Amino acid sequence: MFYNSIEAAPPDPILGLTEAFRRDPREHKVNLGVGVFVDDAGRTPVLESVRRAERMLWETEKTKDYLPIAGLPTYGREVARLVLGDELHAAMAGRVAVGQTPGGTGAVRIGMDLLKTYRPDATVWMSSPTWGNHHGIAAAAGLATRDYPYYDSVRTRVDVDGMCATLEQVPAGDAVLIHVCCHNPTGADLEPEAWERVAAIAAKAGWLPFFDFAYLGFGEGLAEDRTGLLAVLKRVPEAVVAFSLSKNMGLYSERVGALLLVAESAESAEVGLSHAKRLGRVLYSNPPRHGAALAALVLGDPELCALWEEEVKTMRERIRGLRRQLVAGLTARQSAVDFCFIESQHGMFSFSGLNDAQVAFLREEKAIYMAKGGRINVAGLRSDNMDYVCEAIAESLKLDE
Ligand code: LMR
Repeated sequence: MFYNSIEAAPPDPILGLTEAFRRDPREHKVNLGVGVFVDDAGRTPVLESVRRAERMLWETEKTKDYLPIAGLPTYGREVARLVLGDELHAAMAGRVAVGQTPGGTGAVRIGMDLLKTYRPDATVWMSSPTWGNHHGIAAAAGLATRDYPYYDSVRTRVDVDGMCATLEQVPAGDAVLIHVCCHNPTGADLEPEAWERVAAIAAKAGWLPFFDFAYLGFGEGLAEDRTGLLAVLKRVPEAVVAFSLSKNMGLYSERVGALLLVAESAESAEVGLSHAKRLGRVLYSNPPRHGAALAALVLGDPELCALWEEEVKTMRERIRGLRRQLVAGLTARQSAVDFCFIESQHGMFSFSGLNDAQVAFLREEKAIYMAKGGRINVAGLRSDNMDYVCEAIAESLKLDE
C-alpha cells in the first residue's frame, strides 16, 4: 500500500505542540509554544485597524479573481516602504522588486529556491540556534547549511565576536541568514555597533545577506527595528529579505508575507522576480488575496496606519511588561538562576535556559507547553497564569539540584 509503506512523520516541533496542547484535557494548561500574541483574556485579537480595513474591503471589493503571481501591486508598494522606511525607500526602492508570498515562510522558501536556481552549490549559514523551520526549508530547497555562532548561553547574549569571526570566513558565493530583530528563538538581538560590524563584513566578504524579518515593531519600535537591516542594505549591492505581517498585524492565518529582492539595478531586480514568479507558480500558483488586501488598506491609509502603529506599540509594551513580571516572579521564588536577561531580550521569545528534562517536566507535570530548547513565548503569558508559570519553573529548577 501507499500510505503505510513508510513510518509516520514526527509532529512539527512548534505547530505540533499546539496540536498536543489542544488535545490536553487539563484546564490549567498554558501554551507558551507557538509564537502567537494573546491579550490578558487569552484571545489573539483581530486588530481594530484590520477590522476597519475589513469593513472597507467588504464595501468595495469587486472580485475574487486570481492575483498576479507576484501578488497585489499596492501591497508590494506599501510593504517596500514599510520594510525600508521612507528615507531608504526614496533612495533605493527602484532597485527592489517585491513579490507577495504566503506568509514569511513562503518568502523564505521562495528566497531559498531562488538561491538554489542562481547558486546551486551555495551553503546557507544560519545562526546557532535559529528557528527550526529554517533548516527544513533549506533542506527542501536542496541547499546545504552550516551554523555561525550566535547565542552565548553562558553570558545570555549574542556572541558578536564569534559571529563576526565566522562571517569573515564565509565564501562569497554563500548566503548568510540573519534575523533582523526579535531573534527567534533566543530574543537576543545585535546592538547597532554590532550591526555596523556585520555590514562591513558583508560588504567586504561578498556573501549574500538573506534576512528574515518577521517581528517588525515587536522589538524597540518600527524605526528602531529596521536599523540593522538598513545598515547592511546601505553597504551591499544585493540582498534578499523575507518579510511577514503575521505577528505585527495579527494576520497569522491570512498568510501575509513578502519577498524583497534588492539588486544592483531595477533590471536585475526584475530578472530576480521573474524567477521568483516561476518558482511560486509551481508551488502555490499565486498568493491569497484577502490578507494582503487588508494590509494594503491599513498601510496605505494614513489614519488606519497611525492606528495600526499604536496597536503594534500596545502589543510591544504588553510583552515588555510580561517580561518584567516574569523576571520578578522567578526572582521572588528562587535564587539558583538569575533570570534578569529575559528583560533585555526582544520580541515574543525568550530562551529561558531550561533544559530538555525541565521542559518535559513542565509539560507532563504542569501542563505548560514550551518549545524544545527552552524557548518561551512570553506573549502567551497572562496575569491569571503568571504566578502558576513562575511557581512551576522554580520547581523545575530543583530537578537540577
Ligand atoms: C514560531 O516560531 O512559533 C512562529 O514563527 C510560528 C511558526 O510557524 O513556527
